[in-house]
Amino acid sequence: MTRSAAVEKVEAETVAQPKKAGAFNRETVTFVRQFTDRLFTFRTTRDPSFRFENGQFVMIGLEVDGRPLLRAYSMASANYEEELEFYSIKVENGPLTSRLQHIAVGDKVLVGRKPTGTLVQSSLLPGKRLYLLSTGTGVAPFASVIKDPDIYDRYEKIILVHGCRQIAELEYGSDIVKAAHEHEFLGEFSREKLVHYPTVTREAYVNTGRITSAIESGQLFEKIGAPALDPAHDRVMICGGPQVLSDLQELLDARGFVEGSGGAPASYVIEKAFAER
Ligand SMILES: Cc1cc2nc3c(=O)[nH]c(=O)nc-3n(C[C@H](O)[C@H](O)[C@H](O)COP(=O)(O)OP(=O)(O)OC[C@H]3O[C@@H](n4cnc5c(N)ncnc54)[C@H](O)[C@@H]3O)c2cc1C
Ligand SMILES: NC(=O)c1ccc[n+]([C@@H]2O[C@H](COP(=O)([O-])OP(=O)(O)OC[C@H]3O[C@@H](n4cnc5c(N)ncnc54)[C@H](OP(=O)(O)O)[C@@H]3O)[C@@H](O)[C@H]2O)c1
Repeated sequence: MTRSAAVEKVEAETVAQPKKAGAFNRETVTFVRQFTDRLFTFRTTRDPSFRFENGQFVMIGLEVDGRPLLRAYSMASANYEEELEFYSIKVENGPLTSRLQHIAVGDKVLVGRKPTGTLVQSSLLPGKRLYLLSTGTGVAPFASVIKDPDIYDRYEKIILVHGCRQIAELEYGSDIVKAAHEHEFLGEFSREKLVHYPTVTREAYVNTGRITSAIESGQLFEKIGAPALDPAHDRVMICGGPQVLSDLQELLDARGFVEGSGGAPASYVIEKAFAER
C-alpha cells in the first residue's frame, strides 16, 4: 500500500465510525504552550491501552456540533511517556486548528485508536548516520524519534535538520534537542550522537537557506563534520510540505537512495507534514 493510501485508509476508518464507541479515546489537556501566532504545542492524558511506534501519527480532533472533527497529527511524545504531546500549526480559518488553538488545560481532545505511519525504524536498513529532515511542523514526529533509545544503539550520529521561514519558528525544535541532551537516561548518548541543524530562509541567522540547498551545496555536511550523503551508510527520514518532500525525494533518488517500507526496508522514508487543499 502506498503512503497516501495508508493515510486515506486510516482517516476513512476513523472518520467513518464517528459514533462507534471505542473509535476514540477522550483525553484531557494537561499543558498548552503558544510559540508564535502560527504554532503551539499541547499535552494530554494517555489511555494506557494506546500503543504506538515512535514517529507514527494518529487522527485527533474536537467534537464540533456533536460530531468529531479530525485531522492527522504526529505524536511528538515517545511511546514510553505517560502523556501524549502534539505540535500544531494554526491555520487561519482552518476547520480544526481555528478551534484547537484555543484549547486550555482541562478541555477534552479526541484521540483515535489506530496510530500508523511510515517514519519508523523497521522501514530502514541499518546504517551509520540517521538524517531527520523536516520543515515547519514536520519536526513533530522527530520529537518522538529522538527520544527513542533504540536509535542511539542503531546509529553513530543522528542529525536533526529543521528548516523554517523565521527564527521564532525554530523554538520547539531547539527545545526538544535541549531536552534530549539533558535527559536523565538518554542524555549520555544524545550529547555524543544527536546533532541539530536549524536553518531559516527569510531572516539572517547562523544557518540560512533551504534544506535542499544545504545538501546540494555541501553546507550541511561541512557544518556537522560528515561526508556527503551516501546510501551505503546514511539513512533518511523526511517530513515536510508536499513540495519539500518531492524535491528531497528527487535529490535522494538521484544519489542512489531507495524508499523503504515495512515489508521492504531501504535507505529513506517520507511522510507528509500536511496535505495541500
Ligand atoms: C500524516 C500527517 C501528519 C500530520 N501531522 C501534523 C502535526 O503533527 N502537526 C500539525 O500541525 N499538522 C499536522 N498535519 C496536518 C493536519 O492534519 C491538519 O491539516 C492541520 O491541523 C490543519 O487542520 P485544519 O482543519 O485547521 O486545516 P486543513 O483544512 O486541514 O488545512 C488547510 C491548509 O492549511 C495548510 N496546512 C495544514 N496543516 C499544516 C501544517 N502542519 N503546516 C503548514 N501548513 C499546513 C495546508 O495548505 C492545508 O491545505 C498532518 C497531516 C498529515 C497528512
Ligand atoms: N510561515 C509563515 O509565516 C506563513 C504565513 C502565512 C501563511 N503561510 C502558509 O502556510 C503554509 C505552510 O507554511 P510553512 O512556513 O509552515 O511551510 P513552508 O512554506 O513549507 O516553509 C517552511 C520552510 O520550508 C522551506 N521550503 C519551502 N519549499 C521548499 C522546498 N521545495 N524545498 C526545500 N525547502 C522548502 C521554506 O523556504 P522558503 O522560505 O524559501 O519558501 C521554509 O524555510 C504555506 O502554504 C504558506 O503559504 C505561512
